[in-house]
Amino acid sequence: MIKLPKDKSIAQRCAVLNLEFDESFIGEDVKNTLHAANQFASNKEDLTLDLGNSGTGIRLLTGYAAGFGKKCTLIGDKSLSKRPMRRISDPLNNWGAKISLRDDKYPPIEIGKSKLQSNFVYELEIPSAQIKSCLLLAALSSKTRIEIIENIPSRDHTERLLKECDAEILIEGNKIILDGTKEITKKFIDVPKDFSSAAYLIAANILTEKVIPLVGIGVNETRTAFLNVLEEMGANIELHNYSVISNEPRADITASFDKKLKGISISGQKIPNLIDEIPLIAIMAMFAEGKTTIKDAKELRYKESDRISLLLSNMKKFNPNIGLKEFDDGFEIIPSKNFNNDSVDLKTGGDHRIIMSFMIAALATGKKINFDETESVETSFPGFYQVIEAWYP
Ligand code: S3P
Repeated sequence: MIKLPKDKSIAQRCAVLNLEFDESFIGEDVKNTLHAANQFASNKEDLTLDLGNSGTGIRLLTGYAAGFGKKCTLIGDKSLSKRPMRRISDPLNNWGAKISLRDDKYPPIEIGKSKLQSNFVYELEIPSAQIKSCLLLAALSSKTRIEIIENIPSRDHTERLLKECDAEILIEGNKIILDGTKEITKKFIDVPKDFSSAAYLIAANILTEKVIPLVGIGVNETRTAFLNVLEEMGANIELHNYSVISNEPRADITASFDKKLKGISISGQKIPNLIDEIPLIAIMAMFAEGKTTIKDAKELRYKESDRISLLLSNMKKFNPNIGLKEFDDGFEIIPSKNFNNDSVDLKTGGDHRIIMSFMIAALATGKKINFDETESVETSFPGFYQVIEAWYP
């Protein structure tokens, strides 16, 4: 059976909430968040917490820590230190927190002593599960009430986890209401395998025409729009052995393909549901017939790298005959089957998803890629190369 890591989003939420889970197969992001959350829970004053490369970790823990109103500093690596944090510090400061940022934008995030108001209403301006979760965790640790208005749905792992732990949380249409005065019940959480890691192997199965089943994968509907995209592109997807454990659904996924892949247009509300899979969709588009267009995805520029710019520059090197257009919030790809087999040097920007996406492109063509580094794969998928070597020789 292919070994896949535990879901990075759910595991990091467990880490911040100090909920027990099986820590046996997790990437560097989850390890860093676990370490920082444990340090925070140690009750020492004036801590410096290092979240490494994890945007989810720093945003979730900032919310949780700001709710406690305890003085601490959150830092990260070079890439995390360039990612925007006003999206969380603005609502938290409006709520009563005392947070300051480097250059008023970036980590280090300094949290001062404060007390949040007892009731806060916030309408999300960016459709982001990290912002939503940051605020929910702040309500819980400050024992206050929050009402979040979410017009474009994003992944709902925090809401599910809080429900699982008996929190006073209500979801009414586009409103999420959490009364943080009620303590949660600490439970053991069975974390499913990470859909966003499985996505690379689903793509590998389709492009190499293998039918290797992927077992026990998280199939929360706020995460799996990638499967619908693949179906629309012409792949056959089947889910088996569906079950719900710890309030999160999981299933075995088989993907196969007997037709030509077609290009696709994706925009609007679908984007947050597949934001982490867009680099991989771009790779699939290189092997499809016809144009692929992605719009409304400006958030890609604020991930571990500027994924729009890095994807396009690497795709052009991978296949100089490809037709590419860059938009502020997306791109257009007109594929060309005219690959040459010369090896190619690509830049990763320290971004795990860029490396894994192009590894799949390499598998599909036999082309050799030299990356300027490969360690960043460890942030989400330890053992990725071994899996590829063993299952897609
Ligand atoms: C995540 C949410 C997404 C996603 C990230 C993990 C989460 O970010 O890109 O990899 O666990 O909440 P945004 O919600 O900020 O888009």
